[in-house]
Amino acid sequence: MSEKRYRVGMIGAGVMGERMIDAVLKHPDYQIIAISDVSEKRAQEAAARSGNAAWYTNYQELLDQEDVDLIYLAVPPKFHHSIALEVLARKKHLLCEKPLANSLKEAEEMLEAAEEAGVVHAMHFPMYYQSVLPEMITRLETVGDLRRIDILTHFHQWPRPWQQTPWLAGREQGGFIREVLPHFVHLTYSLFGDLQVVRSHVDYPDDPQACEVGVAAYLELADGTPVTVNGLAGIAHQEHLDYRIYGTKGTLSLVNWTNLYAGLEGEALEPVTLQLQERLIQLLDEMAKAISGEEARLVTFETGVKVQKVLEDLLGKE
Ligand SMILES: NC(=O)c1ccc[n+]([C@@H]2O[C@H](COP(=O)([O-])OP(=O)(O)OC[C@H]3O[C@@H](n4cnc5c(N)ncnc54)[C@H](O)[C@@H]3O)[C@@H](O)[C@H]2O)c1
Repeated sequence: MSEKRYRVGMIGAGVMGERMIDAVLKHPDYQIIAISDVSEKRAQEAAARSGNAAWYTNYQELLDQEDVDLIYLAVPPKFHHSIALEVLARKKHLLCEKPLANSLKEAEEMLEAAEEAGVVHAMHFPMYYQSVLPEMITRLETVGDLRRIDILTHFHQWPRPWQQTPWLAGREQGGFIREVLPHFVHLTYSLFGDLQVVRSHVDYPDDPQACEVGVAAYLELADGTPVTVNGLAGIAHQEHLDYRIYGTKGTLSLVNWTNLYAGLEGEALEPVTLQLQERLIQLLDEMAKAISGEEARLVTFETGVKVQKVLEDLLGKE
C-alpha cells in the first residue's frame, strides 16, 4: 500500500465502519492503518476489507499505535464518551459519529476535552455534505415569511430490517429519537440557527427496556417560529421521512433524505432535480483541510452539544 497523507484508526467496525472503509479506500489523502472492534470477526473482516490494516479487539491497543493521526469513532452511542476522552487525552484528531454522546453532560465533557486537546474535532452529519442543503438555503428566499417547520419521521419497523443490532431497540441508547432525529435537528440548525424544545410527549411500550414508539413535540426557533416533531414506529406505513418548511409564499419538502420538492403559492409540490454528492468523501476533504490548518466546513463538537441538548429535551421534557 502506498503511503497516504493521513493515517486513520477506526474504532467500531459495524454498519458505519464499513461505509467509512469504502470512502477512505476511494480517498487520495487517507489510509486506514488500524481497526478495533470488540468482535474479533468484525475487526478481522474490516481489516481485510480496508487493505490489510492492523486489527485489535481492545481499542486501547489501537490507541497505543503512535502513528495514527485521526480516529474515526463509530461504536454505539453509550461508548462514545469514555473512548473519546481517551482518544483526546492522546491528542489524536477525532471524527465521531452522531449523536455525540448519550447525555448532555457527556457531550459537554467531550467538547471540553476536545478543546483542551487542541485537536480537530468533528461529527458525521451526512446531510451537511449533500447538495440538498445549499439548494434548500438558496430556495429559502422563495418561501417568504417562515410559518412553521414540520419534521415527520415514520417507521414501519424500528430498528429497520437492515439494522438488527440490539442497542438500537433499547431505551438506554437506541430509538429513532437518538438515532434519526439528530440529522433533522442539525439540518434545522444549519438552516435557521438555534432551536429549543418547548414540550415533548414520548410514547413507550410496556417493556421498560424497549425504546420509544412515538414522539409528538413542539419546539421553537429563536424568533419563535414553531417546529413540530411527529415520530412514530411500528405503524402500517412504510418508512417515510419528511422535513417540511412552510412559508407565506412557498413550501419546501425534503423526503427520505435526498428527494427535494418545492412549490410556490397555491401550487402543488414538484420534485427538484439535483446532482447528489459522495458525502463521506466531502467530509473527509474538509477534515483534511482542518488537519492541515486550513479553514474547513465541519460540524464540531460545539454543535454536537447543541444537538444533544435538543435530543435530551425531546426525551425528557413533558
Ligand atoms: N451518520 C450517520 O448517518 C449514521 C448512520 C447510522 C449510525 N450512525 C451512528 O454510528 C454509530 C455506530 O452505529 P452502527 O450503525 O455502525 O452500529 P453497529 O452496531 O452496526 O456497529 C457498532 C460496532 O461497534 C462495535 N463496538 C461496540 N463497543 C465497542 C468498543 N468498546 N470498542 C470497539 N468496538 C466496539 C460493535 O461490535 C459493532 O461492530 C452510532 O453512534 C450510530 O448512531 C450514524
